[in-house]
Amino acid sequence: MLPNLVKLARSDRHLDPRVAIYYVTGQCNLNCIYCEDFGARRNGNNQRPLPLEQVMHILGIIRGGMDALFLTGGEPFTHPDIDSIVLRAKTELQFKELTLITNGSLLHLHEVVLQGLDRLVISLDCTDPLPWSKIIGMPLPTAQTILSNIRKYAALQSKYGYRMIINTVLTPEVLPAAPSLLEFCFENQLLVSFSPQAVNNWPRYELAVSTEYSNFIHELLLLKQKGAPILGSDAYLQTLCAFQPYDCYPALAPRIYPDGDLSYPCRPLEKAGNGQGGRDVNMLHVQDWATAWKLARQTYGQPPRSCHSCFQQCYAEPSLMQAQPLALLHEWLRYPASRETNLSTYTPG
Ligand SMILES: C[S@@+](CC[C@H](N)C(=O)[O-])C[C@H]1O[C@@H](n2cnc3c(N)ncnc32)[C@H](O)[C@@H]1O
Ligand code: SF4
Ligand code: SF4
Repeated sequence: MLPNLVKLARSDRHLDPRVAIYYVTGQCNLNCIYCEDFGARRNGNNQRPLPLEQVMHILGIIRGGMDALFLTGGEPFTHPDIDSIVLRAKTELQFKELTLITNGSLLHLHEVVLQGLDRLVISLDCTDPLPWSKIIGMPLPTAQTILSNIRKYAALQSKYGYRMIINTVLTPEVLPAAPSLLEFCFENQLLVSFSPQAVNNWPRYELAVSTEYSNFIHELLLLKQKGAPILGSDAYLQTLCAFQPYDCYPALAPRIYPDGDLSYPCRPLEKAGNGQGGRDVNMLHVQDWATAWKLARQTYGQPPRSCHSCFQQCYAEPSLMQAQPLALLHEWLRYPASRETNLSTYTPG
């Protein structure tokens, strides 16, 4: 963190990355209604998984630049070699902090990965299987399997040594059931994080004008102070209350596509194709991470100033914790949930 503070003091926004987010595959087995990039309905347009050795090569290049890795997708458990990817990332590449985010529906087929993970994040917005099945666009039994997997693998946390976290997308539709979700997490010894639903990389309009939403975020702050297992800094939750602009430093958490393309400086700007970013640097075509990172900076320049459209925790939390080290220290000293896992590399996206 210190070298990045020096960079910030010099107005250098091309910060050293803290965690890489690797899209193991673009394929998914569910159809969540709010998912803008992935889902079974879009599998034909999204990247297919690479063979194991190529994935390991990409991860090896990433490991040269950082020791924290976040595996996402699409649905990571649809990669045919996901078990080997996780175990080899831990044992061969020795990622110090290895996290996987999943929809949880196939977890029971991959129990072996649990011994390699430091954090297991499962996406869940409500604990009633019927509305959850509608949100994920799947029949009721799929939602029931997800819920039963969550209960089962929550109970195995101490056996395998991973920390399990529920990541919830806040929508106007699930807000009324959020208290029972919190209760569920409490009962099952789960941490829980919240991100507002994004629409075209902005918070959904109905949330921005909803007092029910802002009251709920205030309530989260109060519950956290009383010891609730909420994984989100005060700084992040306060930012969420009124969608307060914040300084975004996307270089802290670079994203890499299944085929090894680096999405620079962040996915929204890379996809916008307006010259502020792109995906011309590929991990399979560079010698090492330092070369890739330098090339990206040379090609696209500094990440922009005053860009703060994205309020998902994966974008905002690392930026806030980097810019406010005293807030990070306060979290660590004050809250057991924030002590349990590293907030500055928590990027559930
Ligand atoms: C894209 S998914 C990929 C990993 C895995 N398939 C899963 O669902 O956990 C990563 C996270 O993004 C969240 N997400 C998807 N669409 C979103 C949106 N429009 N706004 C905010 N979060 C979203 C999901 O709920 C999930 O927690
Ligand atoms: S949120 Fe995850 S599970 Fe749902 S469609 Fe998107 S990638 Fe698939
Ligand atoms: S706010 Fe969003 S679009 Fe802007 S720099 Fe951050 S991640 Fe990129």
